[in-house]
Amino acid sequence: MKRAYNFNAGPAALPEEVLVQAAAEMTDYRGTGMGVMELSHRSAEYDALHEQARADLRELLAIPDDFAVMFVQGGASHQFMMIPANLAMGRPTGYADTGVWAQKAMQETGLYGQPYKICDAAPGGYRDIPAWGAVEADTAYVHITTNNTIYGTQYREIPAVSVPVVADMSSDIASRPIDWTRVAAVYAGTQKNLGPAGMAVVVMHRDLIRTGNARLPKILQYRTYADNRSLYNTPPSYAIYILGLVLDWMKRQGGVAEMERRARVKSQLLYTVIDRYPEVFVGHARPEARSLMNVTFTLRDRAQEAVFVAAAKAQGFVGVKGHRLVGGLRVSLYNAVPQAAVEALAQWMTAYAEAQA
Ligand SMILES: Cc1ncc(COP(=O)(O)O)c(C=O)c1O
Repeated sequence: MKRAYNFNAGPAALPEEVLVQAAAEMTDYRGTGMGVMELSHRSAEYDALHEQARADLRELLAIPDDFAVMFVQGGASHQFMMIPANLAMGRPTGYADTGVWAQKAMQETGLYGQPYKICDAAPGGYRDIPAWGAVEADTAYVHITTNNTIYGTQYREIPAVSVPVVADMSSDIASRPIDWTRVAAVYAGTQKNLGPAGMAVVVMHRDLIRTGNARLPKILQYRTYADNRSLYNTPPSYAIYILGLVLDWMKRQGGVAEMERRARVKSQLLYTVIDRYPEVFVGHARPEARSLMNVTFTLRDRAQEAVFVAAAKAQGFVGVKGHRLVGGLRVSLYNAVPQAAVEALAQWMTAYAEAQA
């Protein structure tokens, strides 16, 4: 078996053990004579894996009982719409503009609320995480993108404000503990740290669900998911199965604390090389705002970036090209990216820099 050094931003590397197990169970899931994709979502076997995934997520992220765990089809962008549709109800909504995804989330609020920026990282070129301004009166919630996948900046902690905070943690969920006293809802597309694409995990305080907009199609209301254990309609059962395997893998590795430790080690390996060769590499994020999940940089000689990407690919390093909207270079270091892969890349980048001297 040949496995790439996969630094994709999402969909991204999954633990090899998970893929091997899924392959072994593809045609006969635990004696059922069927693969998971073929199981009825009303069967006892499916129900057991569905509940185990919900319980494991609760355990790993230390989710308190007054929060509901939901699986919703459609990815994080779907949540950009569902959040304001359920929670804004014509009121002001604060958005922390720290990048492309934050802006996309804000744009979706127009139909349901009155969005305003509680901070704006644009003047600083999206290199840092600005302090938040005042919360406007009657604000329904403030939306935060805890890790900015494209610019490679990350909040160190979630700011404390007097209104509910809704956090898009698509690219750093399960890589560090969550302070549940600071958030009323967390959501994440699953295709980075949690599993396959096509679904979002949504964890929301039950008060927000209860008081949410009831004048929406049932399938768009969070209460439909919370009241029916995300089994109101056919859930993305295979994605939930793989999510369950990934959560089980994470637990066996030592949980979120271990994921965080690894993220620190892996990101430091690359930031060290970037900082050691300032005549070759230029880090994008300011050091105090650097992401542990997405390391973004450019080459001092920008004309060489395509050559760099091609040379990296020839060495087996996949996914080091920056996002199509901003260019440059980006290396994503999600939970399943092995330290050995990052060490190999750091070594190769060092040799690349030395060769420029
Ligand atoms: C922080 C963040 N939010 C939202 C999204 C959009 O996710 P999806 O493609 O699942 O809609 C992404 C995708 O990369 C992301 O990184």
